[in-house]
Amino acid sequence: MSANTIEHNRNRFSFEGIDAIWLFGYGSLIYKVDFPFLEKRPASITGWARRFWQGSHDHRGTPEAPGRVVTLVEQPDSVCKGMAYRVSPSVFEYLDVREKNGYLRFATRMTFDDGSHAEGLVYIATEDNEAFLGEMPEQDIARQIASASGPSGPNSEYLLRLAESLRILGDECPHTFLIEEHLTASDK
Ligand code: BEZ
Repeated sequence: MSANTIEHNRNRFSFEGIDAIWLFGYGSLIYKVDFPFLEKRPASITGWARRFWQGSHDHRGTPEAPGRVVTLVEQPDSVCKGMAYRVSPSVFEYLDVREKNGYLRFATRMTFDDGSHAEGLVYIATEDNEAFLGEMPEQDIARQIASASGPSGPNSEYLLRLAESLRILGDECPHTFLIEEHLTASDK
């Protein structure tokens, strides 16, 4: 699949007759909230794990030296914490462009902190997209992140802001925290 997913997402889901819909964020959507929302609630999804396996050629890297950003990979019993936003469907016109580099919208079941559930949408970059980089040891991922930078800023800033947001949310994401540890150790 081509890395530019704008058209795929537009054709994927009809928002006809829908006033508002939940969106689950597990990466930059947790801390970069540059879209209007009606409600915001911490939430989690089960069966998915956050991984820095997606290449970023347009935000945190360049085509010549891509950075690494997060996607979700299937992992039974794994719980991924994030932030849920109730948004108007028009928000997806903006987010489909912001997150065009390989991410498709999927329906997911979210659990809120009080144990209640709701259906929502989540952006996932699957391994069949051109920008997918895949698995690599955390130390090597940290090295790649340390040297990458793009129009949205240094890749390291993305990692550090995400790690900080996950700590605030109380998410235990050993993968993210190990990369952060390697990155900060290499600064010393
Ligand atoms: C998110 O924070 O949920 C997200 C991450 C990457 C692309 C799109 C959304």
